[in-house]
Amino acid sequence: MTDVLLSAMAAVGGPVVRCSLLQRRPLRCGPGLRPVPGGEASLRLCSTRVAQEGINKPVIDRIIRVDHAGEYGANRIYAGQMAVLGRSSVGAVIQQMWDQEKDHLKKFNELMVAYRVRPTVLLPFWNVAGFVLGAGSALLGKKGAMACTVAVEESISEHYNNQIRTLIEEDPEKYKELLLVIKQFRDDEQEHHDIGLEHDAEATPAYSVLKTAIQLGCKAAIFLSERI
Ligand SMILES: [Fe+2]
Ligand SMILES: [Fe+2]
Repeated sequence: MTDVLLSAMAAVGGPVVRCSLLQRRPLRCGPGLRPVPGGEASLRLCSTRVAQEGINKPVIDRIIRVDHAGEYGANRIYAGQMAVLGRSSVGAVIQQMWDQEKDHLKKFNELMVAYRVRPTVLLPFWNVAGFVLGAGSALLGKKGAMACTVAVEESISEHYNNQIRTLIEEDPEKYKELLLVIKQFRDDEQEHHDIGLEHDAEATPAYSVLKTAIQLGCKAAIFLSERI
């Protein structure tokens, strides 16, 4: 992973960043799904240059590193859920949320190159832990998987809101593009959270215990991924 990023950075050859198009992947209508207002829109995030001077590098490093780790973990959770429930009635719903997580991860991969941020050393751990959490919750059944989604997505939405506040306090103009990305992803995660609730997450046995345990794990993952 690090090698891939380093060679990508070398290819960039400086602070010049290629334009990227962040396509919104709308959640299609289907069983239990609803169309997303404005979901057809695509958001163009075209940074021709990220000025390294003047940015609060430690803050930006921390934000991008932890968000990349979070999106990576989310991808592994949905992969685990799909391994168990892919052929069930909620397979399409989970797949569509996973597809959005793939877009999120792709964007943070690009931002890591643009801002020259290294990934967390914990990626191999999140690889396994995310999959185990996803598959484990799915083994509890469809509602268990959705309870996991609600817990994780609520934590991530909250986390993104904290980052939005931090960046606005820092300089909303300077971090305009990053704010746009994080706000859009926060909305996507909020939507995943709502989909989980619509699919009876709260009807899972021991829902609050499960939710609290998963959210404690998310807090620990955020704390660690920001720092190492
Ligand atoms: Fe995400
Ligand atoms: Fe999500």
